[in-house]
Amino acid sequence: MPALYRKPSPPSDDKRWKIVETRMRRMGNRPAALIEALHSAQEAFGYLDENALLFVGDTLGVPHSRVYGVATFYSFFTLKPQGEHTCVVCTGTACYINGAKDILAGLERELGVRPKQTTPDNKVSVLTARCLGACSLAPAVIVDGEVAGKVKAGELIARLEAM
Ligand code: FES
Repeated sequence: MPALYRKPSPPSDDKRWKIVETRMRRMGNRPAALIEALHSAQEAFGYLDENALLFVGDTLGVPHSRVYGVATFYSFFTLKPQGEHTCVVCTGTACYINGAKDILAGLERELGVRPKQTTPDNKVSVLTARCLGACSLAPAVIVDGEVAGKVKAGELIARLEAM
């Protein structure tokens, strides 16, 4: 590490940054940890804003262009500010054949929102992910960080509408 290296400061005092920092440190604060670190930041905050991208890039020594490149290349990452609630619909094979398609269709029909979009009232943002690792629960979704399994489109929509 160069003598003048100064550890970048997190964008805010939000405790969730500690989680992200710990994850990056465990992986040696190296450029190779970029995707993992972005996942960790997105898990913690629901989306990646500019400050998050710059902080992760600076901590891992990755050029900002590369950070943006990676964050925009992978469909799992979203750079948009999110609605109050986040609903991640798994579109992995098990979930897809067990109803993820109906869930996405229902969200679009009833709430007017497609993946990577936020409802006009800014309440709910919809994201998709490839296999959440809970295939026995297919179709699975994550609402505000909590996994829900064997989800029925109608029930999910009712729950989101009530939020
Ligand atoms: S395919 Fe959805 S959890 Fe694995």
